[in-house]
Amino acid sequence: MDYNERISNVSVLGAAGKMGSGILLLMAIEMADQGLKPENKGKPYVLNAIDVTSGALPGLMKYIRTQVLKAAEKKVVVLRKLYAHRADLVDNGEIIEEYINDVMSIIRPGTRLEAAFESNLVFEAVSENAALKVKLFTQIDTNSIVKPWYFTNTSSVPISGLNEKAGIGGRILGFHFYNPPAIQKLVELITIKENPDGMKEFAHELAKSLKKIIVPSNDIAGFVGNGHFMRDALYSIEQAEKLSSEMPLHEAVYAINKVSQDFLMRPMGIFQLIDYVGVDVVRFIMNVMDPYMSNENLHSDMLDKLFDLEIKGGQYADGSQKDGILKYEKGRPVAVYSLDKKDYVPFADFASKTDAWLGELPKEVMPWKNIIRMADKDAVAMEAFARLKVLNSKGAELALAHARRSREIGLQLVNTGVAASAQDVNTVLATGFFHAYGPVNEFVN
Ligand SMILES: NC(=O)c1ccc[n+]([C@@H]2O[C@H](COP(=O)([O-])OP(=O)(O)OC[C@H]3O[C@@H](n4cnc5c(N)ncnc54)[C@H](O)[C@@H]3O)[C@@H](O)[C@H]2O)c1
Repeated sequence: MDYNERISNVSVLGAAGKMGSGILLLMAIEMADQGLKPENKGKPYVLNAIDVTSGALPGLMKYIRTQVLKAAEKKVVVLRKLYAHRADLVDNGEIIEEYINDVMSIIRPGTRLEAAFESNLVFEAVSENAALKVKLFTQIDTNSIVKPWYFTNTSSVPISGLNEKAGIGGRILGFHFYNPPAIQKLVELITIKENPDGMKEFAHELAKSLKKIIVPSNDIAGFVGNGHFMRDALYSIEQAEKLSSEMPLHEAVYAINKVSQDFLMRPMGIFQLIDYVGVDVVRFIMNVMDPYMSNENLHSDMLDKLFDLEIKGGQYADGSQKDGILKYEKGRPVAVYSLDKKDYVPFADFASKTDAWLGELPKEVMPWKNIIRMADKDAVAMEAFARLKVLNSKGAELALAHARRSREIGLQLVNTGVAASAQDVNTVLATGFFHAYGPVNEFVN
């Protein structure tokens, strides 16, 4: 089966979710674009958008239409060429409308899994629940006439286990998009030795067509991205807990968040990132990873306590940030949750004192939005860390220790064979987490 045939009938499971909706959008555009090529004229393309939440499907279709309109407006010059044979389409507006109709006509929204029984390719993006994923694969596979290839978006569950439990003969790999899939360039690719010939090559071809950067990861729970993020998060929580002998825990959380953002020149502080992904999701991923890590304890009592109090973070349907460890106004953190007070404490009540305790940010340490635009980010980071090393402040001390731990985690991922190289770890952090510099560097040694 060639590339075109493989994508002629595709299903997305969990299509109305955060990841599923993005994958659906990418595939709808890819399939429509393939269908518009002269050599594919007349070939049918079917994309099943399957989700158990039937109420979410109309909103999903509206979302896809809006996004396709944006995509069409950006590539109207290309579309003019693709529709050149259509004398009836004259102005740009008509071409864009036709393209939207072509894309939308491929998508079949529904709640029934049966639709996937005829698919050659199944993207799985249902909730991070291994038993549910296995159940769906088994159900499709026992009924499918074509025995599809499964591309799972799991963030943490080893692929070999899913393969074994579902009994799908190696026709599964991890195609781990980052959130949001339509924008994030990174895809972690997790193949297993049982994969049939051509499956890995197809995954690369698809990623290239979707303009994604592939980084391979070994099939070890958490893979590269979460392998780093979960350990980085746990380190930060431990540091905040340690600091709580000197200041209230909520102030310590604020301090570590500030160090990880401002001193390490990252796009957001570590506790904001936990909120972005979701306290519940982070805790869940740690729980999935933990049994596979014999020498480590990937668990946090603090996250358990927050979860029990329903302090969860995550995002609203419109993409805006929900309150979590931090409280947000217009997307910016303004307060931090106190487990003692069981309430948020505004930054205004204590931040100037904590900022003074951390010490001033030297001018060499620039905001992330500045360093990310620089051509030679490594040189800037090198200079910034050189300055931090001679700065006698709490902030510098915490930042250097954090950068060293981040480096150590990166090297651990290479040494345990999760990542193929330090460069791969750095690429994942740069493309999946938007870090300005990779964790495996020589700045902090
Ligand atoms: N959110 C992220 O940042 C992120 C990033 C990378 C990977 N992932 C992974 O992607 C997957 C989906 O995560 P998400 O954040 O999009 O979750 P989500 O909760 O937003 O979406 C899951 C969707 O699956 C649907 N669903 C549940 N059971 C179903 C079933 N039996 N059949 C069909 N649909 C069903 C739900 O209705 C929901 O719409 C998970 O495996 C997650 O670990 C998430």
